[in-house]
Amino acid sequence: MKRNYEAIVVGGGIIGGSIAFHLAKRGYDVLLLDKGRAGKKASSAAAGMLAAQAELDDCGPLFQLARKSRDMFGNLADELKEITGIDIELKDKGMYKIALNEREAREYQRIIELQKRLGDQAEWLDQDELRNLEPALSEAVTGAMYIEKDGHVSAPALTEAFLKASAALGADIKEFTEVQSLQFSGGKITGVVTDSGEYASDHVVIAGGAWSSKVMAASGLNLDTYPVKGECFSVITERPLVTGTIFSHGCYIVPKKGNRIVVGATVKPNTFNEKVTMDGILTLMEKARNIMPAITEGELESTWAGIRPQTGDGLPYLGEHPLYQGLYAATGHFRNGILLSPVTGQVMADLIEDEQPEIDLSPFLPGRAYENRYAAAARD
Ligand code: FAD
Ligand code: GLY
Repeated sequence: MKRNYEAIVVGGGIIGGSIAFHLAKRGYDVLLLDKGRAGKKASSAAAGMLAAQAELDDCGPLFQLARKSRDMFGNLADELKEITGIDIELKDKGMYKIALNEREAREYQRIIELQKRLGDQAEWLDQDELRNLEPALSEAVTGAMYIEKDGHVSAPALTEAFLKASAALGADIKEFTEVQSLQFSGGKITGVVTDSGEYASDHVVIAGGAWSSKVMAASGLNLDTYPVKGECFSVITERPLVTGTIFSHGCYIVPKKGNRIVVGATVKPNTFNEKVTMDGILTLMEKARNIMPAITEGELESTWAGIRPQTGDGLPYLGEHPLYQGLYAATGHFRNGILLSPVTGQVMADLIEDEQPEIDLSPFLPGRAYENRYAAAARD
C-alpha cells in the first residue's frame, strides 16, 4: 500500500472531489481520504442550483467567484461525460427569483439594475409575463427577476463524476478512513495521521465540509465555521409543471429530469443532526403549495437533509495556512458549494502547482481566521 503522495485531499465531497480531479488532470499523484462513503454528505443533499445571481445579491468577491465558476460548467459537463460517461444533467432554462410582496419586487428590481451595470443579464417580469411562461405559478407570485444564466445540475451526479474522473486519472480514493491529526516539520506540512495509519505529503488540502475546522485545529488555526442543516423533499408529477427554477427566500422548486421536482430547503444553524423533521418538511410543503398549488398533485418521492459548511463572515476559506507551508483550506462554501466547485478545484490546484490563480484569493485566505479573532477580541 502506497504511503507517500504528492498531494492529499481530506474530504471526498464535491469540493475535495473537484480538487482531486484538477490535480490528477495536471499529473499529480493524489490521495483522497474520506471518513465515510465519499460524496454522501452535503454534496449529495444539494438541489444543484447554479444560482450565482439569484443567491448572491451584492457584487463582492464571492459574486465574482461564483460568476467565474458558473461559466465553467459547459466545458466541465462535456469533459466529465467523456472521462466517466456520467451526465451531470446541466440545465440552462434559467431561474426566476420570485417576489411574493411589494418589498421583494422593489428589492429585486434594484438588484437587476445593479447586476446589469456589472454586465450580467437579468430582467423583471410582471405577473402576467411570468404566468405566461410558467402557468403553474400562483397569484401569490407578483413578479420575478428572470436570470437566464442561473441553471442547475444534478449535485449527486456531479459529485460522483468528480470522484470517478479523479480515479480514472490516477488518484487513489480511500473511504472509511478518518484523518485524525496532521504532521509538521519546521513550518511545513509533512502528512496526515488517520485511523488506519499515516500518509506522507508536502501538500495537504482540508476539504472536510462542515467538519473541516476539527481537522484544521491540529494546526492551531481555528477556522470560524459552523454547520447549517438543510432539509429537502422531492415529488414526481405526472406532467411537467415548470421549466425554469423557481427561487424564493425560504423555498425553491427545481425541476429535474423525469418530472421529478426537488423542493428545498430549511436553514437550521448550529446542528450536525441530519434527521429530517416533520416541522421542516411541513414548512417547505406549505411554502411550495403557496407558490405552485399543483405541486400537491405530485407523489412524494423522498426526504433528506444535509449539513452546509458556513463561515463567520460568509466567505469560504480558500488558500494556504498562514503558518504552515503546503497546508491548505478549501471549505465554507455554505449554500453554493455545487456552484463553486469547478473554480475551487481550479484555484486550489493552481496554488499547489505554485501558479498564480486568475482570481484574487486575498478575501478568502484562511489567515483571516486569526485576524477576525484578534479584531473581535480587541472590540470586546
Ligand atoms: P461535504 O459534501 O459535506 O463533504 C465533506 C466530506 O468530508 C464528507 O464526505 C466527510 O465525510 C469528509 N470528512 C470530514 N471530516 C473528515 C476527516 N476528518 N477525515 C476524512 N474525511 C472527512 N449548493 C449549491 O451550489 N447549489 C444548491 O442548490 C445547493 N443546495 C443545497 C441544499 C441543501 C439541502 C444543502 C444541505 C446544501 C446545498 N448546497 C447547495 C450547498 C452544498 O451542498 C455545499 O456547499 C457543498 O456540498 C459542500 O461541499 P463539501 O465537499 O465542502 O462538503
Ligand atoms: N443553495 C440552496 C441551499 O443551500 O439550500
